[in-house]
Amino acid sequence: MKISVIGTGYVGLTTAVSFALMGHDVIGIDIDQTKVARLQKGEAGIYEPNLEKELQNMLALGKVSFSSSLEAGILSSRAIFVCVGTPPLPDGSADLSALNQVLSSIKERVKATAGASNVTRVVVIKSTVPVGTNDHIARQFADVPELLVASNPEFLREGSALHDSLHPSRIVLGTEEPQALAILEELYASLVCERVRTTRANAEMIKYGSNAFLATKISFMNELARLSAELGADITEVARGMGLDSRIGPYFLGAGLGYGGSCFPKDTSALSELGAQHGVDMPLLKQVQQVNELQPVWFVEQLKKLLPTLAGLKIALLGLSFKPQTDDMREAASLRLIPLLLREGAVLSAYDPLCNEKVRKLYPDLDFADNPYQALAGADAGVLVTEWEQCVKLDFTRVKSTLRQPFLFDGRNAWDKRAAIDAGLTYMGVGRS
Ligand SMILES: NC(=O)c1ccc[n+]([C@@H]2O[C@H](COP(=O)([O-])OP(=O)(O)OC[C@H]3O[C@@H](n4cnc5c(N)ncnc54)[C@H](O)[C@@H]3O)[C@@H](O)[C@H]2O)c1
Repeated sequence: MKISVIGTGYVGLTTAVSFALMGHDVIGIDIDQTKVARLQKGEAGIYEPNLEKELQNMLALGKVSFSSSLEAGILSSRAIFVCVGTPPLPDGSADLSALNQVLSSIKERVKATAGASNVTRVVVIKSTVPVGTNDHIARQFADVPELLVASNPEFLREGSALHDSLHPSRIVLGTEEPQALAILEELYASLVCERVRTTRANAEMIKYGSNAFLATKISFMNELARLSAELGADITEVARGMGLDSRIGPYFLGAGLGYGGSCFPKDTSALSELGAQHGVDMPLLKQVQQVNELQPVWFVEQLKKLLPTLAGLKIALLGLSFKPQTDDMREAASLRLIPLLLREGAVLSAYDPLCNEKVRKLYPDLDFADNPYQALAGADAGVLVTEWEQCVKLDFTRVKSTLRQPFLFDGRNAWDKRAAIDAGLTYMGVGRS
């Protein structure tokens, strides 16, 4: 099937490549002409495992192409996927300006050709949008009967985006229109997983509910970790014991520096704001956000229990991206931790496999290293900020010999605590006795 994907960022590019891999003919469209030129040459421009390789394969086979013109894709597509960003506005609600711009262009183009072709097309909203947005779009399209609307929220995780797109946990198909559902069913026919066929509003709420619930799990474990630190319990053991209960499950129970990324912070804010707009107070969600905001503050307080004065001390930060296997720095915990440590007078060195240059633009005075050991050289403490494998699997004897003082602060509870202690290092994790 011929389809177009508008917005070729983390979600759009992955969507375009995965539909091409499923055998469809895809045009990726982006307003950013530099990005389009790069994609046409087979450069992904973002880091996602296997994405660039498969992009090049699909380009070579002619299954995917890119353009900055909406015209190029819309009129030849049965399905038009909208994957533009919906970042937070200052009040926390979702900024729908890019989405609205794209939708009015689609409507305009399709309307202009009405009569010449009366092919039914479905506009599929993959961007995360407030509940009610898709129904609103359907009402806006009411005078263009050949345009149908469906909500098909995306659940991929950065760092394993292409894999997740091709092996989804579920596909949520939210539409009131049987023809739209039929097109989506055909598009996704080759993927084996549960389908949730539902209304547009339910689909939108499933997306927000999923992200808000995962964020809640993380904040709950971080709160429990703070108490564990005071009571001499080890949150990693606690989480393991809790996670074996099938009603709880083992995932998203890791305490650490808090959640980040382009989704959890923005989607929890948008959901909370949506509640406020409809007169529904959401105190639990507010606390989830607050625990997350304060987690780096709490972490620095813990660090100061071992190093009461940070002024003039060199602290090495290992990992900067919001999670491993991505170059995405949006809402990364490192960006909350760095100013806190600088305010204490610490001198910072840092290492990230992909994000040194992005952070250098924000903090040019940090000492950026090419590997973890270089960052740790002569430091008074090492802090694990993002659990990249390169930063987790360390030779602790070498770490001990390179540090000036033997302190390790594990912001992700990912280091081998026993190995670190055996190497003569002083280890402190998040809520680990
Ligand atoms: N990143 C994730 O892990 C993830 C996961 C699930 C859902 N989502 C949701 O998917 C949406 C996209 O997220 P993302 O991370 O891919 O964003 P992104 O910022 O990486 O990409 C957005 C793309 O849209 C393009 N764009 C903006 N305005 C445009 C316009 N008018 N016409 C054409 N292109 C335009 C931008 O140039 C950019 O390439 C958001 O709503 C997000 O909440 C993201």
